[in-house]
Amino acid sequence: MSYRVLFVTAEYTPLAKTGGLADVSAALSRFLHDRGDDVRVFLPLYRQIAERPFPRQPVDFLQNLSLSIGSREYRYSILCGQAPGSTLELYFVDCPALYDRPGIYTPDADEHHRFLLLTRAAFECSQRMGFAPHILHCNDWHTAFGPLFLRTVYAWDRLFSGTKSVLTIHNVGYQGVFAAADVAALGLGEAAWLVHQEDLVAGRINSLLHGILYADLVTTVSPNYAREICTPEYGVGLDGFLRMRGDRLVGILNGVDYAEWNPETDRYVPLHFSAAAPAGKAAVKSAFTERLRLPRNPDTLFVGLVSRLVAQKGIELLPLVLPGLLRARNLCFVAVGSGEPRYEDALASLQRAFPDRVVYHRGYSEELAHWIEAASDVFLMPSLYEPCGLNQMYSLKYGTVPIVRRTGGLADSVSQYSPASGRGTGIVFEHFDSTALRWALETALDLFARKDHWRRIIANGMAEDFSWTRQGALYIDQYRRMAGAD
Ligand code: ADP
Ligand code: GLC
Repeated sequence: MSYRVLFVTAEYTPLAKTGGLADVSAALSRFLHDRGDDVRVFLPLYRQIAERPFPRQPVDFLQNLSLSIGSREYRYSILCGQAPGSTLELYFVDCPALYDRPGIYTPDADEHHRFLLLTRAAFECSQRMGFAPHILHCNDWHTAFGPLFLRTVYAWDRLFSGTKSVLTIHNVGYQGVFAAADVAALGLGEAAWLVHQEDLVAGRINSLLHGILYADLVTTVSPNYAREICTPEYGVGLDGFLRMRGDRLVGILNGVDYAEWNPETDRYVPLHFSAAAPAGKAAVKSAFTERLRLPRNPDTLFVGLVSRLVAQKGIELLPLVLPGLLRARNLCFVAVGSGEPRYEDALASLQRAFPDRVVYHRGYSEELAHWIEAASDVFLMPSLYEPCGLNQMYSLKYGTVPIVRRTGGLADSVSQYSPASGRGTGIVFEHFDSTALRWALETALDLFARKDHWRRIIANGMAEDFSWTRQGALYIDQYRRMAGAD
């Protein structure tokens, strides 16, 4: 059976991306479209999308619409355009008052209005299009009020009588909390009692919590993270609610868009290689080290990192471990990322201390991200927590050995290499401390010197398959269970 899916998201690769949410929204919606589902993706027309030379047209019957969020009245229109490289139609919510701003996310006081409008617009436009979704698929806190709106504001409309709601939690660390004083922004009227009352009394409204309470199904992006967020250590205050919804909480590991992340066809890295011909990787390393003016010695372990620089990613461990190793062992380190100034500064000072062996690019660069994946010998993800993580899976495909902490989706996608059995795809450490990370990097350096093992671990990783054909089918199973039998 094919499904009508209303898919609402704050990010979409390559149009608006800060992290994996964008990659997953794009790849999952395209997977559904390619298998014949009628997917309508709604996302904001951020300034950065509006400024792109990207073909889109106004939808004539969805122009100059109005919607009140609390006491504010917003006017918006819908533009429609095909997702790059696909025939899937994207619906952009054009509301300059909210989206014509410098970033995808803002620190502005009306941040919640920006995403309440997106969520409401998806319903309002479905009504005007006569689109009756089987599934409303919401992502993260931004659109987490969708399930409650379905049960309240839009409950009268028979168009939605067969609609089931899914909330996918990509990261429980971001919850979209705003002041209880703005409860009117939800537009719930008499149904306002459905807002979590203890939070209201405490003066706040937690967007993600409401998705957890009211979605027909809550998914998160790896089976291990689904277990972890039910514990106080990882639940960021929502573990009790997640345990309560335990029978409707499912972990589905993200997939990889191998059209985008594939060393045989990579459009940013013109030197291609594959599992059948892995030797080409050495040429990529050589070209990249030359470009960065790093040692061109094939025996120097090339360590890569591509990351948002936030506490989640374990960046604080790097200055504790890398200087000692850079002094004692034969390695170089290349990082691209931006985020909290304390981490940016730490990486910049590492580069100043080791100018001939460390390169840090502050900022966002898709091109560098691809080069780092392709050229590195090992890829670092020492995350404090990691709902899924995509780069470790990209790394496996590129013959780049991931060094990960055993947490979230990293634990589900990378297995410890055992020299005795020759099995395993990476190096996995347990404790979030410098001793454990140092052990992992030392292990990598030692294995790297034993070429037979290194070839084996690379081959094991390149043989892994995290395609959306596999992972997307797990979402279809869930849709099927909700929407009724075929
Ligand atoms: P998260 O969503 O928590 O940031 P993921 O591993 O799921 O982590 O996804 C991160 C995505 O963002 C990957 O596609 C990665 O390549 C990309 N990315 C992160 N930081 C940068 C950066 N500075 N430049 C380019 N790409 C980046
Ligand atoms: C989040 C998580 C990351 C996950 C991504 C896509 O940003 O931090 O682990 O891979 O979403 O689901």
